[in-house]
Order: sequence, then C-alpha cells, then structure tokens
Amino acid sequence: MQVGRSGTALVSHQPLSSLLRLDGRSAVVTGAGRGIGAAVAARLAEAGANVVGVDIDHSAESRGAGIVPLVVDVCDFDAPEEILLCAIETFGGLDIWVNNAGIYPTAPFLDLDDSEWDRVLDLNLRAVFRCARAAATAMRNADAGGVIINMSSNAGMAAGRASAHYVASKHAVVGLTKSLAVDLAPFGIRAVGIAPGVTRTEGIRNASDALEAAGWGDLDAYAERTTPLGRMAEPDEIARVAAFAASDLASFVTGTTIVVDGGQLSSFS
Ligand SMILES: NC(=O)c1ccc[n+]([C@@H]2O[C@H](COP(=O)([O-])OP(=O)(O)OC[C@H]3O[C@@H](n4cnc5c(N)ncnc54)[C@H](O)[C@@H]3O)[C@@H](O)[C@H]2O)c1
Repeated sequence: MQVGRSGTALVSHQPLSSLLRLDGRSAVVTGAGRGIGAAVAARLAEAGANVVGVDIDHSAESRGAGIVPLVVDVCDFDAPEEILLCAIETFGGLDIWVNNAGIYPTAPFLDLDDSEWDRVLDLNLRAVFRCARAAATAMRNADAGGVIINMSSNAGMAAGRASAHYVASKHAVVGLTKSLAVDLAPFGIRAVGIAPGVTRTEGIRNASDALEAAGWGDLDAYAERTTPLGRMAEPDEIARVAAFAASDLASFVTGTTIVVDGGQLSSFS
C-alpha cells in the first residue's frame, strides 16, 4: 500500500510535522495573485509543494519561492489544459489543485439580469467544474491520488443580501465538492471545500462600497457585530486550513466543506 498519498491509509505512525509536509508535490492555485489565493499558494509552497500560481491579472502575478506564475483566465475554454500542461511540464505531475478564483459582485435580486448571473456562474461554478474535471483526469491517469480543494464561502451555507448569483454559485460548489468526493474516491482523489467568512482581501476592500450600498453596512462593523470572534479573517487563516486539507493530516477528509468563519454561521446575533 502506498503511504502518504491522498486517499490511501497511512499505515505507520508519522509525526504531525511530516504529515503536514508537501515536499515534491505539484500544486495549482487559481486566483493566486492576491488575497486568499496568494496566501494559499504561499502556505503550500512553504510546506514544500511546487506551485503554479494562476491569475488573470498580470500585475497580480503570484510571487515567492516555489511559486511559478501563470497568467490565464480560468474561464477560457482551453484554460484547464493550459494550466495542467504548465504544472506537468514544470513539475512533472499534479497532486493538488485549488479552485480559488472567484468574484462576489452584489445585485438586488429584482435587478439581477441574465448576463450578470452568467458572469458569476461562469467563473464561480463552471470554471470550477471544468478545472476539477481536468485535474481529476490527470490525477486518475497518473494513478497516484490527489486532492482538489474548492473555495466556497459562508454564502455557500446561507444567504446574504443582494447576492443571489454568488450565493447560488457557492452553494453549488458545496454540492460539486460532495460529488467529486464520491466519484473520485475510487481513484484515491479527495475533494475538500473551504467556506471562509468575510476575509480581509483586496477584493473585499474593492467591493466594500457596493456591499455597503447593498445594505451590509461597514464591513468591519458587520464582522464585529455578526461574528463571535468579533472580526474579519485574515487570508492566512484561510490558507492554513487549505494547507491542512491538502496534506496527509487530512487523509480521511473528503466531500465536506470546512467552515472558517469565526463562528458567524453558528451564531444568532
Ligand atoms: N474575501 C472574502 O471575504 C471571501 C469570503 C468567502 C469566500 N471567498 C472566496 O475566496 C476566493 C478568493 O477571494 P478573495 O477575497 O481573495 O478575492 P480577491 O479579489 O482579493 O482575489 C481574487 C484573485 O482571483 C483573480 N481572478 C479573478 N478572476 C479570475 C479569472 N477569471 N481567472 C484567473 N484569476 C482570476 C483576481 O485577479 C485576484 O487576483 C473567491 O472564490 C471568493 O468567493 C472570499
């Protein structure tokens, strides 16, 4: 029995520090130029993985030791194959794929038009499906297991104001993650979702005026009021959970979406 690969039982006791290591593993992180994706890429690289950091934005190219930047729009038809090719040609394989790139525009439900619906679902769901399919195919063909991590949201568990398109996309990612776990388990491939609460990123900063106008109010005040821990998350607090999910510490974790929201979804207040 292979030891230390996703989906296979770890037959011997290993120290926690070695279970967390990703040395020699090849990873892809989408939306890695900034925010949560940049933090995830940095933590995976720190754990020893070789990371392809994908972003649509040239100026937000992910940097850092162990991270190779790749400028691609994950919604492009050929994007999954292009990213995969980069990982395989550069690092010799694929072990971890993190679908993180996503957008969260607001629109009151009665103003939500078809094109805005399609724009959000195209990136937040369709690209996740197409990337997961490409990643899983490569992992299955290599017969060495693997992990697919999908960034959902607390909006994948409950609805916030003026964001039906976002909420629908992130609920769908939770369901997709369950399906990936079921269909890919026979190949030793795990699928794990992560549902962050409001997290202090550039994307959130840029969206703060729109969110405020949509009735969320000031985001810091909102987080303080609605989150038992009384604040927003920092991107690295999400990235640490991604590092856990990618590692052999999580060898029996699949199908679930891990909520990382400071207790917000658990609270009435
Ligand atoms: N920040 C939060 O409060 C929060 C909460 C819950 C879930 N999330 C989820 O976490 C993920 C990251 O959010 P963030 O706040 O770090 O966002 P962000 O906007 O700060 O960063 C997202 C990155 O993705 C890149 N990107 C956008 N579209 C892309 C595309 N088509 N192809 C490739 N790259 C693309 C952007 O250029 C950017 O660098 C998203 O899926 C988001 O829905 C964020």
